[in-house]
Amino acid sequence: MKTQVGIIGAGPAGLFLAQMLHRAGIDSVILESKDQNYVMGRVRAGVLEQGAIDTLKEIGVGENVEAERMEHEGITFKFDGVERYIDVKALTGGRTVSVYGQQSVVRDLIDARNSYNEVKWHCPVSSISDFETDKPKIHFTENGEEKTLACDYIAGTDGFWGPSRQAIPAAKQRTHEFVYPYSWLGILAEAKPVSHVVIYANHENGFALQSMRSPEISRLYIQCDNDDDIKNWSDEMIWDELDLRLGQGTDFKLNRGPVIQKGISPLRSFVSETMRCGRLFLAGDSAHIVPPTGAKGLNLAVADVRVLAAGLTKAIKDGSEDILDQYEAICLDRIWKTQRFSWWLTTSFHRAKGMSTFEHKLQLATLHTIVSSEAAATSFAESYAGMPYIY
Ligand code: FAD
Ligand code: DHB
Repeated sequence: MKTQVGIIGAGPAGLFLAQMLHRAGIDSVILESKDQNYVMGRVRAGVLEQGAIDTLKEIGVGENVEAERMEHEGITFKFDGVERYIDVKALTGGRTVSVYGQQSVVRDLIDARNSYNEVKWHCPVSSISDFETDKPKIHFTENGEEKTLACDYIAGTDGFWGPSRQAIPAAKQRTHEFVYPYSWLGILAEAKPVSHVVIYANHENGFALQSMRSPEISRLYIQCDNDDDIKNWSDEMIWDELDLRLGQGTDFKLNRGPVIQKGISPLRSFVSETMRCGRLFLAGDSAHIVPPTGAKGLNLAVADVRVLAAGLTKAIKDGSEDILDQYEAICLDRIWKTQRFSWWLTTSFHRAKGMSTFEHKLQLATLHTIVSSEAAATSFAESYAGMPYIY
């Protein structure tokens, strides 16, 4: 088997990249270890920057998103007896974010892909080789048979646990990691969201967040311990804790309804500064993880693949790697700024076990600064709405 770009993983990064390359007239093959239903069923990111929405439209996949997205002009912060709406649109000269779930993004991109070349589902990649030559190879299994895909370039869009990053020789890897002392317990529920915007709350029991997936479906999170077990939490306990933390001493009540999905996710910050090794390029979660506060994971993947698609297109069509040579530098600038934003928002809203009163007072001072200084609110809003793209 042979193609121009071999793409490992049909998550958002791989699917966006494939669609961008297709529009540029470049062939690709996507190898995905799971099946289509599993990938389409994964409940993950929910909030897209304006730029990610515009990207979907630019690459010809904008029809559903335009009809179904829920545009958010701001966000509400609750802490220390304060409830304040941050008007992101006004502070950024008109930029907004939209709720459009990862499941919908992935569905739209898979539908687009299926119209010309299906994803190779159930094809786990076991290893990659020769990527430091001009004849890289991807080794995978299809129906129990070992196969090889020869390509001009490899896109490692296989998430944090995939084989691409691990294939880079240890001596060439530059990585940085921080693991947080708390996790998120998230639920998806058939319940009308009480607020039409996202709410972040800092409460003495920990962080809480109300978001949504549609006017009928709520997405809700509470901070929990890293060693917590979802079995420790009945649905009623979760609703009570959400009301308590989001209510901040008032008689605030969420609309309750059947819980259709629940799970616990750890929080991690991770950067692989090595995003290129020869003809292998990492993009999305294989190169970086942000904690979910700030909703940047999927957005950062889109920003990476925009640069990668431009670089691969130029390399394959014109024989010039000048954009690919700048790939790491362009991406890392945004990645580190986004890491700072996500880390800062996370540590300002969560209560770590054993946190001193001094640290807690600093958190409150940070949040009071945002709601009392237009300059500080603008800085938050610019990051939340998303930075402009270079490519
Ligand atoms: P992934 O979505 O991880 O896709 C990688 C793909 O590669 C997967 O389909 C995987 O099956 C495939 N793969 C892996 N190994 C192989 C192999 N050997 N062979 C073939 N295929 C392989 N972000 C937000 O912005 N907001 C949120 O609320 C949010 N919540 C999240 C909750 C959870 C539980 C998780 C895990 C992430 C969350 N994220 C959130 C992050 C966001 O979902 C990711 O940043 C985004 O999915 C990154 O896309 P990706 O394509 O880089 O990686
Ligand atoms: C979601 C929304 C957020 O604002 C966030 O920071 C994380 C996740 C969501 O809707 O899933």
